[in-house]
Amino acid sequence: MPQERNAARPDGAVEGDPLAVDWSTVSLPDAWPDTLDLRRPSHAAAYVRGWFGGRRPVVVPADLPGADRLPPYLLREFHHLPNGVYSKRHADAYARWFDRLMLGATVGARARLAAALAGCRAALDVGCGSGGLAAAMRAAGIPEVWGLDPSPYLLQLAARAHREIRFTQGLAERTGFRAARFEGVGACFLFHELPPRVADAALAELRRVLVPGGRLVIAEPSPVQFRVRDWRALARRAGRRGLYFAAMAKWMYEPFVAGWHGRDVASWLGSHGFRLLGDEPGIPVRFISASRD
Ligand SMILES: C[S@@+](CC[C@H](N)C(=O)[O-])C[C@H]1O[C@@H](n2cnc3c(N)ncnc32)[C@H](O)[C@@H]1O
Repeated sequence: MPQERNAARPDGAVEGDPLAVDWSTVSLPDAWPDTLDLRRPSHAAAYVRGWFGGRRPVVVPADLPGADRLPPYLLREFHHLPNGVYSKRHADAYARWFDRLMLGATVGARARLAAALAGCRAALDVGCGSGGLAAAMRAAGIPEVWGLDPSPYLLQLAARAHREIRFTQGLAERTGFRAARFEGVGACFLFHELPPRVADAALAELRRVLVPGGRLVIAEPSPVQFRVRDWRALARRAGRRGLYFAAMAKWMYEPFVAGWHGRDVASWLGSHGFRLLGDEPGIPVRFISASRD
């Protein structure tokens, strides 16, 4: 990830912050799904093979910003997307379809996370994707908001949609910010996508960039729809909506999700210097909030 730093701070950011590139204007290279002309039968066939021909490692163009620093665990076809979120075509599709497939629950989740951070002076949306939580943080009145994500394709969508927010390429486990930079950090549907050792490193890093007493708020897919023992009981509790999310949890390719759901979150947070304030496993979203010791 680029760890260049702005010496002069024309944008008012703090000395030592990572470079806030204007991703809206960066020219990004085409990844293989972008080079396909779906009107041509051979290209259409290659595209269909991308969806149904088994998962392959994600291939990023050599000249993609930060390409040489993307860790291998990221380069998987999460959610069955050919080349994951590492193409213009599928970053855009992901940004447009994620909230729809979640029946709007993620929109409400981001508003709730942002409301929990209202009053912070500076906050970070870690794993920001196309910037929805960062935008909700601004709407909640947080004056300084940053979004961080490894995918330049998603950062570009985020920057084009939310021009008043700074977006930087980085990893949750190595953000590039100085210690105690933020009063609040929010993560929406990030941790279940990380291998356990990376989730540990990310939590340690988020503690480092938070001020003492700072707030960490997390939304993740709920374990309720992940581990269904009694489908009838689920139907009684949550109706067709609950069954839909349980079916989706079974179908979705998320290689690290079982590790995430296996965690004892209270002791995990405690062992990393956080105090658990709340843990609500609803359907389909689990909300976790904690304060940094
Ligand atoms: C399920 S998406 C959620 C995106 C966004 N938070 C939202 O609410 O729509 C997970 C995001 O985490 C990002 N991500 C994956 N591994 C990461 C890491 N190690 N550090 C930071 N972000 C990561 C992905 O690029 C993707 O944008």
